[in-house]
Amino acid sequence: MAKSSSIFVCASCGSESSRWLGRCPECGQWNSFSEETKGTAHARSRTARPGPAQPVALSTILPVEHPRLATGSHELDQVLGGGLVPGAAVLAGGEPGIGKSTLLLQTAGHLAGQDLSVLYVSAEESPAQLAMRARRLGLASSHAQLVPEAEGTAAASPIPDPASLERMGRILILEGGSLSGIQSAISSLHPALVIIDSIQAVHSEELTSTPGSVSQVRECAWFLSEECRRLGCALILAGHVTKDGSLAGPKTLEHMVDTVLYFEGQRDRELRLIRCVKNRFGNVNELAVFLMTDSGLREVADPSGIFIDGITPKGPGSIMTAALEGNRVLLAEIQALVTGRVAGNIARTTDGVDTNRVMRIRAILESRLGIDLGDSDTFVNVTGGLAINEPAAELAIAAAITGSLHGRVPDCPVVVMGEIGLLGDLRRIPQADKRVAQAAKLGVRAVVLPEANRRDVEAARARGTVSGQGGSGPDLVFASSLAAALDAVFGK
Ligand SMILES: Nc1ncnc2c1ncn2[C@@H]1O[C@H](COP(=O)(O)OP(=O)(O)O)[C@@H](O)[C@H]1O
Ligand SMILES: [Mg+2]
Repeated sequence: MAKSSSIFVCASCGSESSRWLGRCPECGQWNSFSEETKGTAHARSRTARPGPAQPVALSTILPVEHPRLATGSHELDQVLGGGLVPGAAVLAGGEPGIGKSTLLLQTAGHLAGQDLSVLYVSAEESPAQLAMRARRLGLASSHAQLVPEAEGTAAASPIPDPASLERMGRILILEGGSLSGIQSAISSLHPALVIIDSIQAVHSEELTSTPGSVSQVRECAWFLSEECRRLGCALILAGHVTKDGSLAGPKTLEHMVDTVLYFEGQRDRELRLIRCVKNRFGNVNELAVFLMTDSGLREVADPSGIFIDGITPKGPGSIMTAALEGNRVLLAEIQALVTGRVAGNIARTTDGVDTNRVMRIRAILESRLGIDLGDSDTFVNVTGGLAINEPAAELAIAAAITGSLHGRVPDCPVVVMGEIGLLGDLRRIPQADKRVAQAAKLGVRAVVLPEANRRDVEAARARGTVSGQGGSGPDLVFASSLAAALDAVFGK
């Protein structure tokens, strides 16, 4: 009897096992293993070398300058490190409804306007839905043509010959997710950009595993990225992310692609953030900010003040800080509420900051400054749906908690930043001069920051890079301890 070739694959992270497991040892997900048949249809046939390869001196290899394709959005181009790279693959992940298809169709429209051809594979939406979005985005109708899925088969209709495509327009929308259909469209159209919306809905008839399974998604993504690399087409794979933040199934796609972008934001708010978490052609941690509007995603060119509602102090428990996101500074409002406990367990709830960080700051306030927080409930939020993960926000969190506890408000617009040590000391933060400059630009009157940052900030001030609206810029208060910093924020 032939030996069974089935394996068990975790739907969350893609790790494999020869037997079924209740809990994935890699990602800890419960009940995520399902049985799949090992598919070998797209054998990984790298061209065999004739003999042993000869080593060459690295210095003789010239670096390749990658020509970039502009996406039509300066912000998106920046997040990508300067635009799309021909032959490279981008994974665009995000929750359903966040705006992936919207941005991708806008990008297709822009490239088409530059006389470049785009293949847009719409594997999960009906032609009517697509037409509605195209109308909403004001996509020039002469630019796009749709090839519907052939009736009664899983495969797409045969692709018209390239000469007629030339007359038809610049965006070819292919309905359905058949891998062979996509492959033949790519080879006959030779587009500058291939968009797959979404990779989870692409399937290959040659693979024995069920469509949507981890191995299907992985094989199809691998095949498409190799094909596009070979032909020099830029590739964008849209991928849905599950609630816990992982790309459903194709988490393992991250290592196959060159760039990984994640869409963040809440569907009930118009703000959308695109964060780059991996990039072989640029910086990571770059952030782009967009607004979802009737006519599609509109970029916010200077988002530094978009997360705050003016700079005037709002009330006890509200403190402004300057957070670093990639290359840019965002002003953010930290809000804390410390209340006497009503009943039951102590609540320490946070939104946008790490709960453990808040617990540590509470402990430092109690044991180093003798502030009695007792068993009160503590809530800490970052307004505007922003998440801040850097230690530089710690001083602002501490100030917001004490402000709420003592009912105190700073008497002028102030930005507070600094990392807090366990001894109650203040530690140096990165790029303080850049943060001060942004605070100055938005009209902030004072900045409280660590003593350890004095040298770099004063040097920047001497160079004239941190002057504000009024000319001289905000007052700078350098503090070496948490206690001194809080005195500076609220006055003694
Ligand atoms: N007329 C409209 N005005 C404003 N926003 C809209 C409009 N139509 C759709 N949207 C927004 O677009 C989102 C759908 O975006 P879409 O690109 O389809 O998301 P994804 O492809 O990530 O699932 C909706 O959740 C909604 O926020
Ligand atoms: Mg979509």
